[in-house]
Amino acid sequence: MLRSLILAAAGNPAVRKLVATAPVSRYVVDRFVAGASAGRAVAVSSVLVSDGLRVTLDHLGESVTDEAGAESTVAAYLELLGCLASEGLTSCVEASLKLSAVGERLDEALALHHASRICAAAEQLGTTVTLDAEDHTLTESTLRIHAELRRKWPKTGAVLQAQLRRTLEDCRALALVGARVRLCKGAYAEPSEVAFATSDEVAHSFVRCANLLLAAPCYPMFATHDPRLIDIVSERAHWYGRLSDSFEYQMLYGVRPDEQRRLARAGYTVRVYLPYGSDWYAYLTRRLAERPSNVAFFLRALLPSRDRSP
Ligand code: FDA
Repeated sequence: MLRSLILAAAGNPAVRKLVATAPVSRYVVDRFVAGASAGRAVAVSSVLVSDGLRVTLDHLGESVTDEAGAESTVAAYLELLGCLASEGLTSCVEASLKLSAVGERLDEALALHHASRICAAAEQLGTTVTLDAEDHTLTESTLRIHAELRRKWPKTGAVLQAQLRRTLEDCRALALVGARVRLCKGAYAEPSEVAFATSDEVAHSFVRCANLLLAAPCYPMFATHDPRLIDIVSERAHWYGRLSDSFEYQMLYGVRPDEQRRLARAGYTVRVYLPYGSDWYAYLTRRLAERPSNVAFFLRALLPSRDRSP
C-alpha cells in the first residue's frame, strides 16, 4: 500500500522536481548508483570484482520517447562494453538492459533490432545481456523479444517477477537447458488482476518459482535481499544437488553489501546489480518505495539541519 503511494507520488511532476533538484538527493543517489559515466561504472565494477563479486551493469534510463533516445541507449551500451573489454572484465561483468530504453514502447521491432546490436557486441567481447523486467504491460513483448534474441544469443537472460500471477507459467516456459533466468519479487505497483497483493503471497510465489527453476536444467539467478528467501534457496539448491556455479544470488548495489560479501566468501556466486548514468530518478524512487525507511531518511535530510532529530 505504502509502496504504491510512494510510486504514485513519484509520478507527480512537482515531486519529481523537488527530488531531482534537492542537494540531498546526491547522497541518496550515491548509495545506489556507481556514478554518471561508463568509466566510473567500470571502476566501481573492478572494486566489486576484486572483492569476489560479479556485476551486472545497467545504464540508467527507460521508456524513451523517440528513436534518437533509443539510439543513444545503444551507443551508451556499446561504449560500456568496449570499456569493460579493455579492462579485461567481461568474464565477471555483464549488462542489464531495459527494453523500453531501446524503444519497446514505440515499436517492438525497433527494440529487437537495437537489443540485437547490444547482444551481438556483448557476445563478441565475451559477456552476456539480461533483459530487465518492467511493468506488466511490457511482459508479453519483452518475453517475445527475449525468445527471438535467444535464437542467436542463447545466453541472453530474462527477468521474471514473482509478484505477477503469470510468473510460475513463465518459469515453466523458460526453464530450458542453459537458460539464464533472474527471479525477483517485482518493483512496480501492479493491479490485483495481474499481481499478488500481499508480501506473503509474493514470497510464496517466489518460493514456488525458485523450486521450479532449481529443479530444471536452467541457470537461475535469485535477485533478492530477503534473508528468509536466501535461506530457502540455499536449502533447496542443496537438496537439488546444485553446485555453486550452477545458480547465483543477485543483489542491488548499496543494499546489504556485507551480506553480498558473506555469501561470496561462503562459496556462492553473487552478482551485484550496478546502475550508472545521470537519469536516476525512476530507479531511485523504486528503491525508496521498497523501503519506507529510505523515504524517512530522505525527508529528514530535506529539512533544515536544526529541525532534524538526532
Ligand atoms: P524486500 O523488499 O522484502 O527486502 C528484504 C530486505 O532487503 C529488507 O528488509 C532490507 O533489509 C533490504 N532491502 C531491500 N530493498 C532495499 C532498499 N531499496 N533499500 C535498502 N534496503 C533494502 N525488479 C523488477 O521489477 N524488475 C527487474 O528487472 C529487477 N531486477 C532486479 C535485479 C536485482 C539484482 C535485484 C536484487 C532486484 C531487482 N529488482 C527488479 C527489484 C526487486 O523486484 C525488488 O523490488 C527488490 O529486490 C526488493 O525485494 P527483496 O526481494 O530484496 O525483498
